[in-house]
Amino acid sequence: MSAMACASRLPKTSWIFLFLVIYSYCIFVLCTFYNRAESPAYKSDCPKLNFNMSLNCSFLPTKTVQPKPTPQDQMKLSNQSLIIILLWTWPSGDKFPLNQCPPSFDSSDCFLTVDRSVYSKANAVIFWHKDVSRSKSLLPQEPRPPNQYWIWFNVEPPPHVKNLTIMDNLINMTMSYRADSDIFTPYGWLEKTEDKINFTIPQKTRLVAWVVSNWKATKRIEYYTELNKHIKVDVYGKNNLPLPRYQIRTVETLSTYKFYLAFENSVHEDYITEKLWRNSFHAGTVPVVMGPPRKNYERFIPPDSFIHVDDFSSPQELASYLLSLDKDDQKYQQYFNWRSRYQPQKLKSSWDGRYCRVCKALKEAPLYRTIPSIAEWFK
Ligand SMILES: *[C@@H]1O[C@H](CO)[C@@H](O)[C@H](O)[C@H]1NC(C)=O
Ligand SMILES: *[C@@H]1O[C@H](CO)[C@@H](O)[C@H](O)[C@H]1NC(C)=O
Ligand SMILES: *[C@@H]1O[C@H](CO)[C@@H](O)[C@H](O)[C@H]1NC(C)=O
Ligand SMILES: *[C@@H]1O[C@H](CO)[C@@H](O)[C@H](O)[C@H]1NC(C)=O
Ligand SMILES: *[C@@H]1O[C@H](CO)[C@@H](O)[C@H](O)[C@H]1NC(C)=O
Ligand SMILES: *[C@@H]1O[C@H](CO)[C@@H](O)[C@H](O)[C@H]1NC(C)=O
Repeated sequence: MSAMACASRLPKTSWIFLFLVIYSYCIFVLCTFYNRAESPAYKSDCPKLNFNMSLNCSFLPTKTVQPKPTPQDQMKLSNQSLIIILLWTWPSGDKFPLNQCPPSFDSSDCFLTVDRSVYSKANAVIFWHKDVSRSKSLLPQEPRPPNQYWIWFNVEPPPHVKNLTIMDNLINMTMSYRADSDIFTPYGWLEKTEDKINFTIPQKTRLVAWVVSNWKATKRIEYYTELNKHIKVDVYGKNNLPLPRYQIRTVETLSTYKFYLAFENSVHEDYITEKLWRNSFHAGTVPVVMGPPRKNYERFIPPDSFIHVDDFSSPQELASYLLSLDKDDQKYQQYFNWRSRYQPQKLKSSWDGRYCRVCKALKEAPLYRTIPSIAEWFK
């Protein structure tokens, strides 16, 4: 009796199982597609922008990234004088072409790879914190070769970084947006130009833009709510104005605004993100920043390149200032004066700007360095 019941239940379970397998596969495929749409490195076309501060898209489309070394790579890897840098993981699975650093990074005698079979030969291993922080077992389990540097890499601010103590007594160098990291990897930077640049301010048809997806009640939401009572802010993102599918189109859309609210989601020293670099500077708008104090911004960008919310006693006062700039072209244009001398860097991908810095840092690194506790520093 019970055997019969079991036999008739079995197919049903199998059906449910089969359904679950197909269902998860569909979700997986959908996610993969969605991620690709998000990642600019996989765009097949480079849309023409309507202004001259365009991002250089010559890297599109890139050939498939090689996870395994080619025979040429193998030959290079056997070159004793080459510094081998192992990326323990692609950062959060994001793939991009390796070993294509511009000459200014001075990295011709380094070789970046994700092939873990070279672990024992690698001069340095880079750990993207998020990918290993779940458990120590995600770190190399083989004995650690002598003189190998372990590099801790992270781009998130402290509240979003979990399980830091996992790194205690393991790491030799830090790599983050903090300027006092061993390898300083900011979200962007300015390059001084040799010749004066004739920068054309993109045509402006609208006033204030903001892209936001995280509506958790924070200081920046309160500030926006108050500001919006006095000056109309066009909000893009989840539940608001839709963003164009491609990041580059977003930048183009933002370029039609006079001001962009570059409000950081959390306030930390040196934590100045793509909200400033991409959405404001690449787009050719004037950033209104909320983040670390003005002095901190001025370590990286000219004082006359941005408006800081701290310069005003209230959102209402800021709104009146923005409205006055809207009526005074000459004064507004002064926020672009710096563009004749400096230019925001334009790299193929944000990863290049970071990983390409490792080579030089390793060549200059002390023979011995160890960091007992990253948690003590990164807070
Ligand atoms: C962009 O620059 C090119 C030359 O570098 C110039 O011919 C063109 O007019 C510029 N376009 C705009 C919109 O400023
Ligand atoms: C874009 O980058 C490629 C190489 O990466 C370079 O050859 C080309 O001149 C650049 N184009 C512009 C417009 O800067
Ligand atoms: C080995 O690396 C050095 C330093 O980058 C380079 O000068 C040399 O040409 C390389 N030799 C071979 C055989 O690739
Ligand atoms: C932190 O570590 C614990 C134990 O290793 C793990 O269970 C947890 O998921 C980790 N948290 C994160 C956010 O990775
Ligand atoms: C810079 O641009 C302005 C206006 O577009 C133009 O009149 C001027 O000749 C340009 N100067 C140079 C050096 O290209
Ligand atoms: C890196 O740090 C580890 C752990 O403290 C240490 O054993 C190793 O000697 C250090 N390596 C270098 C090259 O400084």
